[in-house]
Amino acid sequence: MKGIILAGGTGSRLYPMTLSVSKQLLPIYDKPMIYYPLSTLIKCGIREILIISTTDDLSIFQRLLGDGSQWGCKFQYEAQDYPKGLADAFIIGDKFIGKSNVTLILGDNFFYGGNFEKEILSRKDLKGGFIFALRVSKPKRYGVIEFDENFNAVGIEEKPKNPKSSYVVPGIYCYDHTVVSKAKTLNFSDRGELEITDINKAFLNETSLEVKVLNEDTVWLDTGTVDSLMNANQFVETLQQRKGILVGSPELSAFQNNLITKETLSLLVESMTESKYGEFLKLYS
Ligand code: G1P
Repeated sequence: MKGIILAGGTGSRLYPMTLSVSKQLLPIYDKPMIYYPLSTLIKCGIREILIISTTDDLSIFQRLLGDGSQWGCKFQYEAQDYPKGLADAFIIGDKFIGKSNVTLILGDNFFYGGNFEKEILSRKDLKGGFIFALRVSKPKRYGVIEFDENFNAVGIEEKPKNPKSSYVVPGIYCYDHTVVSKAKTLNFSDRGELEITDINKAFLNETSLEVKVLNEDTVWLDTGTVDSLMNANQFVETLQQRKGILVGSPELSAFQNNLITKETLSLLVESMTESKYGEFLKLYS
């Protein structure tokens, strides 16, 4: 399983903060936003990761994350010059994906708790598509799943006016390599994007889409607005300060998934002892 982090877009809902800085580089408490989806992918057992961002921002992501070898991973970078939608990630990632399975995660999505990482780990040899469903209070803003009486997914609609359920698709998606050819046949939607919902519909039409309803204890935040960004900051602060649980740390996830040794973790910590993040990380080294 390979991974893609989509960290493009204009971040217009966060202007002026994102006029000169990529949204996915803004801090969530003590670390850059992209650390969270990155560490989620590492926890899912994914080491080969493609990071997609704008041409302007790519070199900054490269400076932050390097080639991934420091965390036992392998990172590649590709530019998306114009925000053409989530499904465009598979067209950009065509060569990178090759014949592998791939998990796409959105660079501004935050996941905590639940057991979805284990679910992804156990689908390395996936055939078709595998997505999650989660109950939210305002489904209209998302891809909404329609279920039949046996709780089988029978339809998905992007931002419907009249949602058929309260279950929506969060920003982490797993597919086999046929996702690339499916993405290439999509038409642009009314909002001018290649929609991930249309990819999911294509797998659903082939009856090869598995939808797993996530436990109620899974926390999913999308951090694209100033209020949701603030919520995420406060949530991480509570977990770390109050409960002493470090979240969104690629170093820690790499260590816990046996990608780096304790000695390497200690060396990484040494370069950061003066920061809060380094302080937290030191507790594990
Ligand atoms: C996108 C998808 C939507 C999905 C959401 C998850 O929405 O189109 O189906 O539920 O991500 O964050 P967008 O962020 O483009 O509004």
